[in-house]
Amino acid sequence: MSDSFDIAAFRSNFASLPRLAYLNSGSYGLLAGSVRDAFDQYMATRVEVGADWGGWVGDLESVRAKLARLLAVDADEVAITGSASSGLNSFAGALDFSGKRNKVVVSNFEFPTSAQIWHAQERAGARIVHVNESEEAVIPLERFEAAIDGDTAIVAISQVCYRHGGRIPDDDIRAIADMAHRNGALLVLDSYQIVGTTPIRPRDLNVDLCVGGMLKYLLGTAGIGFMYVRSDLIGDLVPRASGWFTQADIEAMDIFAHRPSPTARRFEGGTPPVPSCVASVAGLSLIEDIGLEVIGEQVRNVTRYTLERLRDAGLPFSNPDADERRGPLISIPSVDDEALVTALAKENVITSCRDGRLRAGFHAYNDEADADRFVAALQVSRSLLDLSRQAGPGRF
Ligand SMILES: Cc1ncc(COP(=O)(O)O)c(C=O)c1O
Repeated sequence: MSDSFDIAAFRSNFASLPRLAYLNSGSYGLLAGSVRDAFDQYMATRVEVGADWGGWVGDLESVRAKLARLLAVDADEVAITGSASSGLNSFAGALDFSGKRNKVVVSNFEFPTSAQIWHAQERAGARIVHVNESEEAVIPLERFEAAIDGDTAIVAISQVCYRHGGRIPDDDIRAIADMAHRNGALLVLDSYQIVGTTPIRPRDLNVDLCVGGMLKYLLGTAGIGFMYVRSDLIGDLVPRASGWFTQADIEAMDIFAHRPSPTARRFEGGTPPVPSCVASVAGLSLIEDIGLEVIGEQVRNVTRYTLERLRDAGLPFSNPDADERRGPLISIPSVDDEALVTALAKENVITSCRDGRLRAGFHAYNDEADADRFVAALQVSRSLLDLSRQAGPGRF
């Protein structure tokens, strides 16, 4: 573990620790005291002042600036949206699928949103081709190579799969970006299931778009998402969805024209999600104070420790062993995933489930004691695990 990281001090921000072994950050991150204080302050201002327009717009820009720093991109390349879905929809609506270049290659790691939005474009002429994963929670690069061609407009991938936690390694993302760009296509990366747990650098990964949101590992809240768009693409992309906050001059209030902002703001919409911005400033500050390198080391170590304990206990899990193929999410095959989540919750071990697997999402506030409680609780509920899968990585 990093010497510079005082995990006890970090954990003290979260009132429900250590009562809970909270392993559900892949659904919703824990509420920190400072985020709650930010909500309280917002409510106090609403009561006492009413409209604090300047403050609210300031918080929106503060979220944008903090995200830009975390992603190492320009603030003008970041749209702050009501959800990851809304940014993606705005982008998709700026594309033209009426010609020959109408193919969208979608990985099967996608969260429903990041596939459904492309299927919704079928009405506009898009053809969707899915790229399947292997039995080991891996998508072999050859499958992308076979799917991407000169008709491809978009390649859409998720960095970490929300179902089982399998991760596309950075080198593979760069290789997929090369394939897309060689063929004249754009690469869209959904980082929602990893952003906040390790440094994500869209420019180093060579992706054209990167989406995520604030309610999971970025420690903010619901009702707010973000979308990075590479600066040199923005001018050519004019979304059909619009609104006054997308305009070059918000204060022009011009009802006779549509003049989209030259920045990624053109992918936003109407009034910003003010309470969500206020909370997100506080959540992002916590992340910035520790730093993503340090958080990344803690998350990597605690997930690796958990996999070792699972292996020692002879319990199955569905994650590849290699660190670069793992995000913060560990998944456990189950014969009744909902009953398993309920059984663990009775032991104050908080998890979630998808698709026949229990999901445990680790953040930097999770320590080895949380991992031990998790493994002990799984042993108590052994009958709910799918023991037909051998203990060990990546067997589905
Ligand atoms: C990987 C991933 N992408 C997208 C989403 C959807 O985000 P939103 O609800 O902000 O559109 C989620 C939500 O859980 C997710 O896990």
